[in-house]
Amino acid sequence: SIDSDSPYMVSQIRQIRFRDFLIDTWYSAPYPEEYSQSSVIFICEHCLKYMNSHKLYMRHQLKNCNMSNHHPPGTEIYRDPEQRVAFWEVDGRKNISYCQNLCLLAKLFLNSKTLYYDVEPFIFYILTEIDASDPSTYHFVGYFSKEKLNNSDYNVSCILTLPVYQRKGYGSLLIDFSYLLSRKEFKFGTPEKPLSDLGLMSYRNYWKITIAHQLKFLWEKYLKNKSDYVTISVENLCKLTGMIPSDVVVGLEQLHALVKNFNTNSYGIAVNLRTIDSVIEKWKSKNYVTLDSSKLLWKPML
Ligand code: ACO
Ligand code: ZN
Repeated sequence: SIDSDSPYMVSQIRQIRFRDFLIDTWYSAPYPEEYSQSSVIFICEHCLKYMNSHKLYMRHQLKNCNMSNHHPPGTEIYRDPEQRVAFWEVDGRKNISYCQNLCLLAKLFLNSKTLYYDVEPFIFYILTEIDASDPSTYHFVGYFSKEKLNNSDYNVSCILTLPVYQRKGYGSLLIDFSYLLSRKEFKFGTPEKPLSDLGLMSYRNYWKITIAHQLKFLWEKYLKNKSDYVTISVENLCKLTGMIPSDVVVGLEQLHALVKNFNTNSYGIAVNLRTIDSVIEKWKSKNYVTLDSSKLLWKPML
């Protein structure tokens, strides 16, 4: 299809060199003309600067990168040395060019129109892998952006895992992190619409697993011994997860936990332990990185 962003010039970029990877691009992004005429561009994984020759790239890596400490700009707000992941909070107002470069990079894998230059109203949360042999080096894995002031329920504007890191659970980790921030803000959140196909699949999976974990938690804590009284309601599940009601319902539906009472003509929640246990076990067996909320060093900006 024709690139709607640059009607006069079709981008030639087919691959990016990033870290030691050569990654095929999925969509075109409005890089400046002298870059979009190359079939391969070189992107520094630390400062996200783009270059159109291998020579410049090598020189940049050796001495020109001003992110000499090999991590994203901004503040480290989460660190898990055992699972070797760290999150960084980058303010679009303070690190304009980094965030613009990030949005351009993301556009290569997003079909929808996204912002590139007006990054100031957004905060960017960057997920990095801590290098296995050098714990002071951080590898860019993915990110999500979030609008600073918004009156909607959106807690994620754009989300990306670089293709070379996809299907390893990092997208779920990013999503989990976005809801952790919402819970800290005492808000219920949802991703900005429309979602891409991959976004929808990832979110639906996340909602299912998260609701399964919460139903299991409520069962263990209250229902098993019938010693305590608790109502399992959509509202309670929202409070526990930071999810908006309609997304909780999507999670419940996938667990066949929503049942209609034909006498009262209303819906109830039925805990089917076997279904829930099997969903939880299957997810656990993948051994993906998990989030530990006690490792978050962060307070809402307000
Ligand atoms: N096919 C089928 N199921 C998938 C796929 C896929 N390609 N990708 C994710 N899922 C589902 C699966 O259930 C998967 O679990 P599994 O891999 O164990 O089967 C689950 O989601 C979680 O996958 P993760 O590995 O945690 O997610 P990943 O790191 O691959 O990232 C993401 C998901 C961020 C959506 C990634 O695909 C991406 O960056 N895509 C391009 C950009 C994009 O479309 N972003 C979303 C736009 S919408 C928005 O920004 C609000
Ligand atoms: Zn650099």
